[in-house]
Amino acid sequence: MSKALVCGAGGQLGQELVLTCPEQCQAIPMTRSMLDIADPTQVAKALDDAEPTWVINAAAFTAVDAAESEPELAHYVNAKGPEVLALQCRERNIRFLHVSTDFVFDGTQGHPYAPYTEPNPLGVYGRSKLDGESAVVAAGGSPVILRTGWVYSRHGGNFVKTMLRLIAEREQLSVVEDQIGTPTWARGLALACWGLADHGDASGIYHWSDAGACSWYDFAAAIRDIALELGLLRQAATLLPIPASQYPTPAQRPAYSVLDKTLTRNLLGHSGHHWTSQLRAMLIDLQQKEKQ
Ligand SMILES: NC(=O)c1ccc[n+]([C@@H]2O[C@H](COP(=O)([O-])OP(=O)(O)OC[C@H]3O[C@@H](n4cnc5c(N)ncnc54)[C@H](OP(=O)(O)O)[C@@H]3O)[C@@H](O)[C@H]2O)c1
Repeated sequence: MSKALVCGAGGQLGQELVLTCPEQCQAIPMTRSMLDIADPTQVAKALDDAEPTWVINAAAFTAVDAAESEPELAHYVNAKGPEVLALQCRERNIRFLHVSTDFVFDGTQGHPYAPYTEPNPLGVYGRSKLDGESAVVAAGGSPVILRTGWVYSRHGGNFVKTMLRLIAEREQLSVVEDQIGTPTWARGLALACWGLADHGDASGIYHWSDAGACSWYDFAAAIRDIALELGLLRQAATLLPIPASQYPTPAQRPAYSVLDKTLTRNLLGHSGHHWTSQLRAMLIDLQQKEKQ
């Protein structure tokens, strides 16, 4: 692994990929303004100029609710984009790692989803990401598809930053308690991507998130408590657990989307960290960045 072109380098995962790039590798960051992943001409030029060993695709249309009213754009970025990248990587013998989502599953299974479990997305976002996975597989070669869930980081907008803002503003906040998943710090996800890329034998579908599982309510409570302890928050808003039925959103979300990470853990030789310790590490990272 000597050169890796990082698509979507301005996003949460993209920025962490660039920050955590291993010493023996050179990351070539491509933000959306530098490279539209669904434009074959732009992709061809980027690959021919950079001649990377790997392309890691962290670019996506990730606005789950907005995707319901913008299905064409979701399909363009999440399905056509990976198809263009996969085909052009295949033509040039460049290894390709594509990132996908736990939202390809319908959430009706009561135990963690293995990579081979049949997907059944509930909304436009999950469907577009599944179409992207299928296009990557159909392009041939030996691509790596890494599914993850509930991603957050100090960059961009995400659940952790939204909760920090709302808890500071309000005395009381209702949070959904009957959707279960696993929060994933983008930094740990980036390290898992590099680990897979470094492993010459990796190909096929893999799962990665931090360890453990929780509801959005549990996640919000942990954000509040750790942020109070670190001095990032001054007041503790009361959190009320509510069912998803009391918080209607344009997109239906899976009630349970915990991923079975056994295959990735075996390949990488470690289990990752529990989501609560990763959350603490991210909040410390955020605090240090704010002080700079
Ligand atoms: N966020 C989550 O909770 C979550 C959960 C499960 C899986 N994932 C997956 O994890 C991966 C990384 O997600 P993330 O949270 O890092 O996403 P993100 O922060 O939303 O970043 C995505 C990046 O892709 C860029 N982009 C959009 N359209 C593009 C195009 N046509 N060409 C090139 N770049 C384009 C965006 O640019 P602009 O900002 O300019 O639009 C943005 O910088 C994605 O595959 C996502 O589906 C995310």
